[in-house]
Amino acid sequence: MARAQTRAIRRKLILRKPTSRVLPAAKIAVTAAILFAGCGKSNPPDAIERGRLVYVTHCIVCHNPNPNLDGTQGPAIAGSPRALIADRVLHLAYPPGYVPKRATHNMRAIPGLTPAQIDDLAVYLRAVRKH
Ligand code: HEC
Repeated sequence: MARAQTRAIRRKLILRKPTSRVLPAAKIAVTAAILFAGCGKSNPPDAIERGRLVYVTHCIVCHNPNPNLDGTQGPAIAGSPRALIADRVLHLAYPPGYVPKRATHNMRAIPGLTPAQIDDLAVYLRAVRKH
């Protein structure tokens, strides 16, 4: 009887170990979920990442890999609003009344980008803007 009890206690101790390890991990997961949910409404992390990939693929030939800085040809464009990005990238135009940073016409249009990619670019360029 005493032996059986000892075994039962041992089993409990063994069982408890992983449980106590799982709990902090679960807490971290919940905290992370809450943190992501907090910034998720206006800037979903996946949209930022998708936008970064579009930027790296299509823009850094001329713009700086850090959009807060001027690039080899293009100016700093961090924080550019979606309308400006769409007009420039798709039509080489500017929104009505917008005063361009440069008077040059050296940018090339990339008309193949989809509206969703323009959305993601805008989310990315807003997210990386240094205030
Ligand atoms: C071939 C080089 C080149 C590429 C590629 C390029 N740009 Fe540009 N971009 C420029 C230059 C140069 C200007 C300045 C105006 C001009 O000379 O056309 C500019 C201006 C801009 C502006 C206007 C800045 C302002 O506020 O006046 C935006 C926004 C912009 N680019 C976004 C982009 C995005 C987003 C991409 C990628 C999808 C991109 N550009 C790809 C060269 C480029």
